[in-house]
Amino acid sequence: MTIVSSSHGYLAFRGEPTAYLFRQAPALPTDFLFGFATAAAQIEGGGAEAEKASGRGDSIWDEFCDRPGNIRDGSHVKRTCNHLEKYKEDIALMKSLGANSYRFSISWPRVIPLGGKGDPVNQKGINFYNNLVDECLKVGLVPFVTLYHWDLPLELFKRYGGWLNKERIVEDYTYYAKTCFELFGNRVKHWLTFNEPWCTAVLGHGIGQFAPGHVSNTEPWIVGQSLMIAHASASKLYMREYKAKQGGMIGITLNGDWTDPYDESPENVEAAQRKMDFAVGWFADVIYLGRYPQSMIDILGDRLPQFSREELDLLKDSSEFYGCNTYTTNTIKATRTKDEFAGYTTMAFDKPDGTEIGITAQLGWLRDVPWGFRRLLNYLYQRYNKPIYMTENAISIADDHTSIRTCHTNDEGRVQYYDGYTQALKEAVQIDGVDVRSYFGFMDNFEWASGLVPRFGSVYVDYETFERTPKDSATSLMKVCSFGFPSSYSKSSSTDTATAL
Ligand code: BGC
Repeated sequence: MTIVSSSHGYLAFRGEPTAYLFRQAPALPTDFLFGFATAAAQIEGGGAEAEKASGRGDSIWDEFCDRPGNIRDGSHVKRTCNHLEKYKEDIALMKSLGANSYRFSISWPRVIPLGGKGDPVNQKGINFYNNLVDECLKVGLVPFVTLYHWDLPLELFKRYGGWLNKERIVEDYTYYAKTCFELFGNRVKHWLTFNEPWCTAVLGHGIGQFAPGHVSNTEPWIVGQSLMIAHASASKLYMREYKAKQGGMIGITLNGDWTDPYDESPENVEAAQRKMDFAVGWFADVIYLGRYPQSMIDILGDRLPQFSREELDLLKDSSEFYGCNTYTTNTIKATRTKDEFAGYTTMAFDKPDGTEIGITAQLGWLRDVPWGFRRLLNYLYQRYNKPIYMTENAISIADDHTSIRTCHTNDEGRVQYYDGYTQALKEAVQIDGVDVRSYFGFMDNFEWASGLVPRFGSVYVDYETFERTPKDSATSLMKVCSFGFPSSYSKSSSTDTATAL
């Protein structure tokens, strides 16, 4: 095992996970949550007419999809999986597969079409989320709710530039969050303020691959700060005014894949840490440790907006857990010339002996590397010292997307991926002592700029008929979770443990 000292003095875990750091390895809590994860913009839409009739306002993704060339197959957020109509069927299916929780997001413009504080609410949208939450509870799925999964009301972008205007957006987002706590907080006990702020900042405002499609080397850092302050403002409001009476918890979920140094050379070991700083530490170091990673300060200088004392106080203890989305692992080399967003590193899969890590997937950036997942869990737990909620983990396997496939349900590569990743999770918990409290897979849905082409899901969706068919991995994943993990959600204290694993 190697312990490297990161640039600002925190000990970063790199190397083989070991149990000896922990006196006693805990088992999983009896209220471990598992099931499927979705996002409003990726699954709700049943077509332009239905969306119009539903009263949802446009989001920046509607406008982005309208512009030719932005979405790989020309598909549109307005027509995805028709969850708006099929939510009961979807919930019944998840339940029948064995899930005990459902992670979904609320669409801000469906609740407040124009988005702003004082703008009118859309009663039809409120009814939809009331019904969705009630249906979950009726069948016994714990609703795990994301407040923002990238669908900013378009009007706010037009009014003042959306996330580029910190003061205005923080006020409007906090108002929207408050509206949701008021409306749904009597039944929703697990809140996520944001899904993957890195994507909004870099993909949306840095390289222009996501809405609103900006290309800039200054905007991402401004947007990143607005997102963090908005997160903290909403979560502190929840903690102050709702937590005691509603009894829930709130946090943020970040994306981040394990970064394995290409070799043991100091420059590549440092590069791997730097890549982690730019992907995860940018948000997590600020929120959990109270400062930007030093490597970001060194590289970005005054393009990295400073936080005031009040803002740092607001951010402190603003996330009760670490929400984690992860998909793969990369080998990392230092580079001087390319990719500032990756902290001047290159990501690949190759090793010095000519071999490559992981099993290939349908998308070039994605590989099945379970040992990297275990290392990531160890790193996050040791660095941030918070319980971890795994909120997304999935793979798009080769061939899964081709319409000429006759058998949509045979997804052996995904079965294998989930077997490996759940095994890695168990080892992280049982052997390494990492506190992990949930695990969510996926169903096929609108994959943002990649449209309906890649399929990450364990449930096949026919985009013509909206018919759903569970793939082999849906059954196997939920079986692993139900037999390997306790099968029923219990309200008992999270310190209760199960021995089933
Ligand atoms: C996002 C999901 C998306 C997945 C696969 C994640 O970064 O949170 O919305 O479906 O990536 O593309």
